[in-house]
Parts: sequence; C-alpha cells; structure tokens
Amino acid sequence: MILRSLALIAALGWTASAAAAPRECAQSPGKVIEVCVWVDNGQALYEVTRKGAVVLAPSELGLTFKGEPAARYTAIGNPRRAASNTSWEQPWGEERVIRDNHTQLTVTLSGDTQFNKAVDVTFRLFDDGFGFRYDYAGIPAGQDVAVTAERTQFHTLGAYQAWWYQGLGQERDEYLYTQTDARRITLAETPLTMKGANGLYLSFHEAAMIDFPSMLLQGNGEGTLTAWLMPWPDGTLAKKTGAFTTPWRTVLIGETPGALADSRIELNLNEPSKIPDIQKWFTPGKYVGVWWEMHLDKATWGSGMRHGATTANVERYIDFAAKYGFSGVLVEGWNQGWDGDWITNGDKFSFTKPYPDFDIAAITAYAKSKGVQLIGHNETGGAVINYENQLDDAMKFYQRYGVHSVKTGYVRHAGDILDRDGKGEWFAGQFMVRHNLLVAETAARYRIAIDAHEPVKDTGLRRTWPNMVAREGARGQEYNAWGVPTNPPEHMTILPFTRLLGGPMDFTPGIFDLAHGKDDVTRRVQSTLATQLAEYVVVYSPIQMAADLPENYEKNLAAFQFIRDVPTDWETSETLQSEIGDYVVIARRQRGGQDWFLGAITDENARSLEQPLTFLAPGKRYEAQIYRDGPNADYRVNPLAITIEKKIVTAADTLPLDLAPGGGMAIRFRLIE
Ligand code: NOJ
Ligand code: CA
Repeated sequence: MILRSLALIAALGWTASAAAAPRECAQSPGKVIEVCVWVDNGQALYEVTRKGAVVLAPSELGLTFKGEPAARYTAIGNPRRAASNTSWEQPWGEERVIRDNHTQLTVTLSGDTQFNKAVDVTFRLFDDGFGFRYDYAGIPAGQDVAVTAERTQFHTLGAYQAWWYQGLGQERDEYLYTQTDARRITLAETPLTMKGANGLYLSFHEAAMIDFPSMLLQGNGEGTLTAWLMPWPDGTLAKKTGAFTTPWRTVLIGETPGALADSRIELNLNEPSKIPDIQKWFTPGKYVGVWWEMHLDKATWGSGMRHGATTANVERYIDFAAKYGFSGVLVEGWNQGWDGDWITNGDKFSFTKPYPDFDIAAITAYAKSKGVQLIGHNETGGAVINYENQLDDAMKFYQRYGVHSVKTGYVRHAGDILDRDGKGEWFAGQFMVRHNLLVAETAARYRIAIDAHEPVKDTGLRRTWPNMVAREGARGQEYNAWGVPTNPPEHMTILPFTRLLGGPMDFTPGIFDLAHGKDDVTRRVQSTLATQLAEYVVVYSPIQMAADLPENYEKNLAAFQFIRDVPTDWETSETLQSEIGDYVVIARRQRGGQDWFLGAITDENARSLEQPLTFLAPGKRYEAQIYRDGPNADYRVNPLAITIEKKIVTAADTLPLDLAPGGGMAIRFRLIE
C-alpha cells in the first residue's frame, strides 16, 4: 500500500521535483531576509523568509505572451550574485543621503516557449524588503510581443489586515481606504499595505514603472495576490518590441508601520538622475494659489463675472506670497477651454491662449519684481492627445514667462482617457505610463517641473526624473471642500503607510476656515487646526501649498507662523510612532539646518502619547514652538481651539502629545545651542 502510493506520487512528479529541484537562494546584507527560487512542475517559484520564518510561501514567477501558451519552466541556471553598499544624494527629499545596501541574485529561467526560452529574474534584497524584475533579454531586436498575463504571485501565510480600495473605480486613486481581512481583497491598487497576526507589516508595490502598465493585485480569497496589469483597449496588457525589462515588483517588510515609511527601497530601485543640473532651475518651496476659492465655488475656472484667474486677483495672491515668504503662486482657470463641460470637452483646452482678463506678461513681470514665481496649470480633462499635440508649445510658452513648475490634471473617469483611435484607455495603462514620461521628459527640456494630478501612480521615478516633483494620486484636501463626504480624520493616519510609500503627494494642506460655512461635519474639513499644521510634516512633498484663502490666514497669523516656518526639504526623516489608521508621529530635520519639525495626527479618537525627544542632537538646547489642540478641541464641535506655546527642551526630555479627536500637533524645535 505504502509502496503503491509512493509510486503514484513519483509518477505525478512530486517527490522527484520537490526533493531534487535545485534552489538558488540569497540573503539580504544583514541576513534578515532570504529569497529562494526554483522550478517545480513547470512553474518558476520563489519563497521569502524573514529571520527564518516564511513570509511568502512558494509564489509563481513569469509572463505569458500572445500566441503562446503559459510557459512550462523547466530549469533555473546561471546564478549570478552581487552585493553593493553605497549611498547617493537626492537633489531634495525626505532624506538627503540615501543608503543603498543590497545583495542581488539573478537566475535564468528556461521555459518551453519561444519568448520564455531564457528569462532572467533579478532579486535585489535589502534588510527591509526586496524587489525583483524580469529581463526578457532573449527577445530578438525588432520582434513585437504582447504580454497577455503576468504570473507573479505573492502568497501570504496566516491572517492579515489590509488597507485598500477596489481598483478601477471611476475616480482612479481618489478613494478612502477600508481596512479588512486581506483575504477579502478583490483587486487592489498598490502600494497595498497589510498587517499580519505575526506582527509584520508588508507593503506590495512596484518601482521604476516605465513603458509597462500599472500593476494591481488580485486576491484569491486565500491570501494569494496575483499581479493584474491594466490592459489596453484590445485586451493586451503590455506591448513591447525586442528585449525588455519589467518594472521591479517590490515588497517592504517591517515590524512597525514606520519601517515601511522610512524604507528607501522604492528610490533605490530607480535609476540615477537624468537631470543633473536641476538644482540650478528648481527649488523646493511653498506656494499659494487661485485654487481653493474655485473648489468652494466662490470663483470659477471659466470666464465670466466670477472668474478667479484675473490679473487683479492673481496680483493679490502675489502680494500675499511675497509678504509671507512663499515662492510660488498657482493659477488655475487662466487658459481658454474651461467654459461649459470641460471634462467632456477637454480637447477644447488651449495651453497657450490665456483668457483676456489674465495678462500673463504683466503677471509674471509683477511676480518677478516681488521675488515670486507663477506656477502654471495644464488641466487636460483627460484629452491626452490634445495635450500631446500642444505639449512642446505649452512648455515653451511657460518657459518664455519664466515659469519653472506646472501642475497638470487628468480629470476624467478612470477608463475614459481617449487615445488617437478614440478608444478608452485606463488612466494608468501602458498608454498613460508612456504619456506620463513624455510629459516629464518634454518639461525637463524646458526646465519645468511637473506636479501631476489624477496621475499615474508614483513608483519612485523622481530619482531618475527629479522634475516629477510631486503628484496627487489619492483623495486630497479638495474633497474637504466638496463634501461628498469629506475625508474622515483617520485618512491622514493611513496615507503615510499606503499612497505615500510611493512618493511625495501634493495633498494641499493648511485649511484654516475648517467649517467653510457648513454645519454638517461630514461636509467640512474633518480635523482640528493643529492637524492642518501637522500635515506639513506628516505628508512629505518638496512643494507644499498653503491652500486656504489669504484672508483666512491673515485672521490667524499666530498659527500661520508654523506654515511660514516649515521647510519642504529635509536632511533626514523618522517615523517615531504610529499605528495605521490610528495615529502617526513623524519628525524631520531641515536640510542644511539644525531645526527639527514634528507632526502628529490622530484619528477620530483623542489620544495621549509620550514622545521621547531622542532624535534631537544630544547636549543641545532647543526652543520647542508647540502648536497643539487647545482646551476642548474636537474636530466635530471645536476644531479651531489651538494653544501655541514655547518650551526649552533637550534630547533627554519626553514630551506629552495630547491629541484631541481629529487632532494633531505641530512642533518646530529651534536650536539655541
Ligand atoms: C482636480 C485637481 O486635483 C484639482 O487640484 C484641480 O483644481 C482640478 N482638478 C481642476 O483642474
Ligand atoms: Ca484630484
């Protein structure tokens, strides 16, 4: 009986392959993470352990091509190993010097189809996670291929909670996150972050997404996630010609949420900068703009009596910016095409023809005389071909007026971006991934930085094209004007561990008139005033807007002082304490300075935290300028109560952080020696 079942198992190929399959393994530099790869029964598989415990059980690898069956992988071979421990400097960032300490293993998978005959898979291992990518180096030059499936899996084990929203919704990535059992994931956007009963935090994403569709993750109800690529209208996933390399598939693994937020794997897996002189023409900074008034419907983008982008109104913002030390003024609704239904008629937008009441020559000359720069705006309404046709002219136009940053926009339902054939493309399929890069490359030629709204998701490309300074790609502050409903307090405690793992976000913090005339809290900004200040530290971006109307800041200059003081470029950043969806405390040290800034935000629950100040330089004294929730502050009934006080502290002190419901705290630690 035993013999017979053994024979059966052998016949099925189990014992033979399981026992004999040669495995290639590699460990991260500190031996924290180990990856092994092998083939078994036609599948190429990898497995990941952390400190000896399995984190990802055997999970599939590979791509499938049009005209071929899914390949049977028959062998792995030619293992190549490497290790590297270097550091590099960002032109600006959440951290100036980035350490890149990794090991690397490349193996060649042999498959039984033409295009999968020899596929290199490279794993790059860090102590806080890993990435891997495919190199289809054997596809002959000039050969067109179409990817029809990506087999990549992430086979998690045990119970996980996930923060996610259903992918492909019409508002793209502008959704609130829900927290569920990770087995309930149907189709999720990345970064996809999970917390395990084993105490581990994982985040799945990709790096260096170039000329390849965006990857979502599809759940199977049992904890296995499979790569799902946003297709072209004809169902093809990716179109390539000749040899190609895919983006990196990445997994961050840490014991705290902060370990994910402080990981630099995303940047390390992108190529070095292609714009070495960018610091000569772009400087991080803060801006105000003709913006919130349109979202509050106090002014219009389109022409008429309530037009926001008039020369006089813009000059008012320039005066305000100059007076309070802001470097930029964004102006939306300046160009022809906004009248009528601009989302349906995006092809009517001109990017070089201002409305007659917007005198760009006078405005930019006035701004220059005040030491302020105009920030341009190109809303496309998702009419991407219309934009591409004008792209050079649009950038040339702004360059002529000394503009060095342009905010772009793609307001259109997720699958309705029309291509040259009038077919609906996904907002982050290969078509739009190409467009995204075309815009950045074109803009760079004109020394212009791009802040894309409704963007393709961020995969760390700012390392290579640092003029991709920031982007939106989540539910931003604008939703707090619309009341549809507005973002609940916990949103700000989830973003740092989900969307923001991809890169900087133009969230547009700093609303002071939190109620803006609304009684219902779900129609207002659901936070306290102190939280609005804390957002400047919690949400990293090299450009930060002070989004509210100038008159609202002038009513509370004491609180406004923090926005004036907070930098947007950092020497280093540390996530001090956090729980996803509950609270977050982040500290950052100013680049080229000694001051530290701290931002703390809680969800709808009041919370008392203790924060040791060990991040401060030992033996030094600092003046802590504290902006905290005032007595009885509460985002529902008393959001404006704020206490501003000063204290002398050192690294040996511990500071209580008392956060109101929906509350927060912002602190500047000014070095006094
Ligand atoms: C949506 C963007 O997120 C917002 O910032 C902008 O004002 C509107 N589109 C109009 O372009
Ligand atoms: Ca938006």
